[in-house]
Amino acid sequence: MQELDLSLNHYLAIKEKLENILGDEKNFITNASNFASLIFHNLNGVNWAGFYFISNENLVLGPFQGKIACTRIPISEGVCGSCVKAKKAVIVPDVHKFPGYIPCDPSANSEMVIPVIYKNKIIGVFDIDSPIYNRFNEMEAEFISSLLEILMKSSSVDSIITYYELHN
Ligand code: SME
Repeated sequence: MQELDLSLNHYLAIKEKLENILGDEKNFITNASNFASLIFHNLNGVNWAGFYFISNENLVLGPFQGKIACTRIPISEGVCGSCVKAKKAVIVPDVHKFPGYIPCDPSANSEMVIPVIYKNKIIGVFDIDSPIYNRFNEMEAEFISSLLEILMKSSSVDSIITYYELHN
């Protein structure tokens, strides 16, 4: 398996790539799609990376990279639901020990879910899975969170709120 690169330079390079990819593009789905691809292909040891957006009582699958995933997750269920409830990143070192874990790809052994915040409210989550146990840490959660902030600031999000019938 590929060696994990957890160096500061590696993360700075990912941030720079994101800024270049976003450029002047404002379409949120376009930018979120490339965001998922950027994380999937640049964060080491990842087998799934993507968005779920809150729509009424569910988390609905958004742009992602990886194998086909569950389309709707009830807002109170799974690691994703826990993230919505906690309104902060949830890091799961061993998904098999997480009560209520929703399996999508059988090769996933650890997971990290980060809230997607817009105008101080959670509108969804960004979910990352890894076949490596204990793959994620707080530092990476903060890093992904800072990238999500860049994504939200450089995209038009209001139309998405209407589309997903988010009660903001
Ligand atoms: N494992 C997640 C479901 C989404 S997939 O991992 C893509 C959960 O328990 O919420």
